[in-house]
Order: sequence, then structure tokens, then C-alpha cells
Amino acid sequence: MAVEFPPEVKREFDELVAKYEQTRAALLPVLHLAQREFGYISPEVEEYVAGLMELPPTKVHEVVTFYTLYHKTQPGKHVIRLCKTLSCHLLGAHTIKDHLCRKIGLENGHGTTPDGRFTLELVECLGACEFAPMMQVDERYYGPLTPEKIDEIIDGLTDEPVVENVDEG
Ligand code: FES
Repeated sequence: MAVEFPPEVKREFDELVAKYEQTRAALLPVLHLAQREFGYISPEVEEYVAGLMELPPTKVHEVVTFYTLYHKTQPGKHVIRLCKTLSCHLLGAHTIKDHLCRKIGLENGHGTTPDGRFTLELVECLGACEFAPMMQVDERYYGPLTPEKIDEIIDGLTDEPVVENVDEG
């Protein structure tokens, strides 16, 4: 099946691009839109975005491969980004990671669980060091984390993506 935005998403694309003086400046948000719509940025999605934005496909590919926020393969239903940078590290991020991996059933410490429910990424500072150790689940930040809090968060997830971006404190 050909990759194409449905009409309502194409309208969102048009509105987004209209906010920028140059179409190419909208590439990052357009890729976010494409990722939201298609789940990840496949080579076909890169081609489609390049065509829509009248950019060389190699330019789109460069951006997609440079930024870790773009998925190149289908992620799990929930994407967990666990911060591994200094403040989080000093406050026990690796203990949190071990507990989280056991809790979600991920043996090798990163990637997607066999049931396809979770993708765990270890990332650099998410700019919320005051909540260290912290993680992002879909669009929401959680911290400071403890093993008990991890259990509570994971047990509370449904199959719907978490959309709020609110600190729990
Ligand atoms: S060091 Fe973890 S959010 Fe900044």
C-alpha cells in the first residue's frame, strides 16, 4: 500500500508548513507528524516526505538517521526513554533500568519486548534533571523514579499511548 497522509493529516501538514518561511524549515515537525501517523519512518515514508516537501530524499534520510527521536523500525506500543546522563546516573538510573527491564520483560537492556508492548531507549539528558532519575513514557515525563514507582507506572498503562506531558513530582 502506498504511503500517504489521510486528508485530515494532509491538512495538518499544510498548516504546519505554512508557519515557516521556507518549507524545508518544517522538516523536523513534519517528520514528527509522519512518525505519529505511520508509527516509524521507513524508507518509503522518507521518500513520501521528501516528495511532499520537494527535498532530496538523501536530505530527509540524513535528518532521520541523525536524530534518535525518529524510529526507523516499528516500536512497541509504549516507548520508554530512560535518561542515562549524569544527574540521573548519580541518583541510580542503572538500578532503575535493571528493575524496569525485569518488570517489562526485556532481557538485553534495550530494544523492544518480545510481546511488542514496550520499546526501551537509553537516552541523554531529557532536560528534567530536577526529577532525576527520570524517564519519558510516550509523551509524559515521570520522576523521581523508584522501583515501586516503576511498578505503579507500568501497571497503570493501558494499550493507549500516554499523551500528557506532566511531571508527577
Ligand atoms: S540528567 Fe537525566 S534528565 Fe537531565
